[in-house]
Amino acid sequence: MLSDRMQEALNDQMKWEFYSEFLYLAMAAWFKSRSLDGFANWMLVQAEEERAHALMFFDYICEAGGKAEIRAFDQPKTDYQSATDVFRTTVEHEKLVTKRINDLMTMAVEEKDHATANFLNWFVKEQVEEVASPQKILDQLEMGKEEGYVLMMLDRELAQRTFTPPAQEAEQA
Ligand code: FEO
Repeated sequence: MLSDRMQEALNDQMKWEFYSEFLYLAMAAWFKSRSLDGFANWMLVQAEEERAHALMFFDYICEAGGKAEIRAFDQPKTDYQSATDVFRTTVEHEKLVTKRINDLMTMAVEEKDHATANFLNWFVKEQVEEVASPQKILDQLEMGKEEGYVLMMLDRELAQRTFTPPAQEAEQA
């Protein structure tokens, strides 16, 4: 059974995961408008992942006897200066999400809510990759100073990314 405080915090995080989905969709649209379809693909897969994360919160809150609440969120940013700017924003956003997940875990431990701590454990591990993966692309963009050939090379590489549902990811681990 979830405490009121925990249910509120989990619902708030579900909202952040849906917000992340829309933030990355907006980034995909920005790349599409510049004909960088590989970058757009990477962001579309990222958006799918975020939706899957949000639905994991939805399912968990319901299964734990709570009430999932769908909440509105702020308009995501739609305009960027460059591909580097997009990935810098992505890394900062994921660092913020990591802090939020860690704070949630601290709350679960404080409340001796082991079921919620166990649920959150997947997200604690996932966030390591959620920061590392865009950070690597940001490093490459910065190293290449966004010269045309660097963008084209990365665009081809990022076009290869595909979505793996979290449940399948866990099976493969
Ligand atoms: Fe759901 Fe990118 O964290």
